[in-house]
Parts: sequence; structure tokens; C-alpha cells
Amino acid sequence: MTDLKSIVDSVYHDLSDRIGEGKLADYIPELATVDPRQFGIALVTTDGKLYSAGDAATAFSIQSISKVFTLTLALGKIGDGLWKRVGREPSGNSFNSIVQLEQEKGKPRNPFINAGAIAVADVVLAGHVPKEAIGEIVQFIRQLADDDTIAIDHNVARSETNTGYRNVALANFMRSFGNLNHPAEHVLGVYFHHCAVAMSCHQLAHAGLYLASAGRNPLSGGSVVSPSRARRINALMLMCGHYDGSGDFAYRVGLPGKSGVGGGILAIAPGKASIAVWSPGLNENGNSQLGSAALELLAQRTGWSVF
Ligand code: DON
Repeated sequence: MTDLKSIVDSVYHDLSDRIGEGKLADYIPELATVDPRQFGIALVTTDGKLYSAGDAATAFSIQSISKVFTLTLALGKIGDGLWKRVGREPSGNSFNSIVQLEQEKGKPRNPFINAGAIAVADVVLAGHVPKEAIGEIVQFIRQLADDDTIAIDHNVARSETNTGYRNVALANFMRSFGNLNHPAEHVLGVYFHHCAVAMSCHQLAHAGLYLASAGRNPLSGGSVVSPSRARRINALMLMCGHYDGSGDFAYRVGLPGKSGVGGGILAIAPGKASIAVWSPGLNENGNSQLGSAALELLAQRTGWSVF
């Protein structure tokens, strides 16, 4: 039987002399103040066993990983109607690129690039004021992780609100094509705040467990999404979760994964486990450098690649 404790420990140990590698996401000033010498791994199996190493209990800014949860919420609200607004193809471009938006008439390639997640935030906002929509997202994440202490880091949200010029451009550009139903500043209020949710690897691995368990939360027994929806969210994570680095991540790791510029990655081993890794230094595609290396080793040692 796979000894998960020794695997998690050995992955942490084998990479510990590389802690600090990569570059902080300094385009969000608050993220540039994070100590880069941090590294955590948490793995929760579908039968609820937790294995962790390093800084797995330290909260960090989940950033784009939150897009998995907002996508899940938006699909719950409007189902496949979402795909009229957002595509399901890898973009092959950086997460904040604007070029395809003009060529493709304001319809973002997928729900994980910034433009796509802004359109998803617009769906979650429907029928609410921004504060309520933000509250609904945080409540959903708390429920998934079974942890009421999860909260938004308001310094990060403020920092991005003050400097997120590209996202302001993306939102207004989409609105000009009729692909945003609410004022750009309201949608961005929701978007910036869900990106600023702070969670530890422990909490994140728990929150992702429904995607490893055919849409059910195996700990509470409750259904979050249908098995086919869980499979499809995993498919999107595999194809689009690392932006223009998605092919490389699939090649090296072979698991559905979603990264964030806070240095976290959520990876799903369907039927087996939900895994969260975190180290703030990023590679050239804006994905955690050490986190990717950790998942590569972990996938090799568990044999959990989906391929
Ligand atoms: O909108 C942004 O640029 C950030 N709030 C999120 C980007 C992100 O996490 C990309 N992930 N690797």
C-alpha cells in the first residue's frame, strides 16, 4: 500500500533546499510583502486522512484558485448557460492577456483566465449587491472546507483594487461587447475580493475534496455537484488551470490543477485525494515554482497521474 505519510515527508524534504525559489507576484503590491521562504503541502484522501508537511497551516492568498469555487457556484446558478458567456478552451496566453478578447468578440476562452473569471463573477453577482455575492462565495468556501474561520484578507483586496488596471480594462472591454450585465466596478469588487480569500493548505485541500470524490463531500456526505459536473470541472482544471503553462503541468504532473499568484496550487487526484501546495515564488507563467515541483514528485511517487 502507498505510504502517503512518507511520500509527503520525502517530497518536502527533497525540495527543502530550494525554498525561496521563484519570483513574488509584485504586480499586486501586498503580495510582494510575503516572506518567500515558505513551503507547505497538505494532502487529504477521499476517506478523510490528512498528511501534511512544512507551512501547511499558514494562510496565504489563494488568488486564482478561488476561480474553481466561483465556477462551481456559477454552474450551480445557470448551468450550461454559462458556456454562452465563457469558453472551455485553453487560451495559450497569459492569465491577464487581452488579445483574444477582441478577436473572439468579448467571450473569454475559459473561466480561469482573468477575463473568464470576471464573467463568472458577473453571473454570481446576479440578483445581489456586491457585498452579498462576496458573502455567498466566502460562505460556500467555508462550507466546502468545513471551517468558519476562513476570511478575506482585506489588505490584499484593497491592494488589488488600487492597482488592478488590467482587470479594469478586461471588464470594460467585455462590457463593451455586452458580455457583462453589471457595472464593471461592481463585478470587479466581487472578483478582487474572492481572489483575496486567505486559506492554508489544510483548508484548501479539504475544500477541494468534492472534486476528488465525484462531487460529494466525503466527510459530510453531502452532494456539492453531480459526478459529471465534478469530472468536467476537473477537465477544465487540467486543460486551463495553469494558463499558458497548462500543457507543461499536465506533462509533468498529470493531474487537474489550479494555480494562484499567491503561490498556491490545488491539485486533484480523482477518487484518491485533494492536494494543496504553497510556496510564494512563481515561475515565468505565474505558477508556484516549488509547488509545481512538489506536485511533480508527488505524482511520480504515488503513481496518481490520470494518464
Ligand atoms: O487578477 C489577478 O491578476 C489576480 N487576482 C489573480 C491572478 C492569478 O492568480 C493567476 N494565477 N496564477
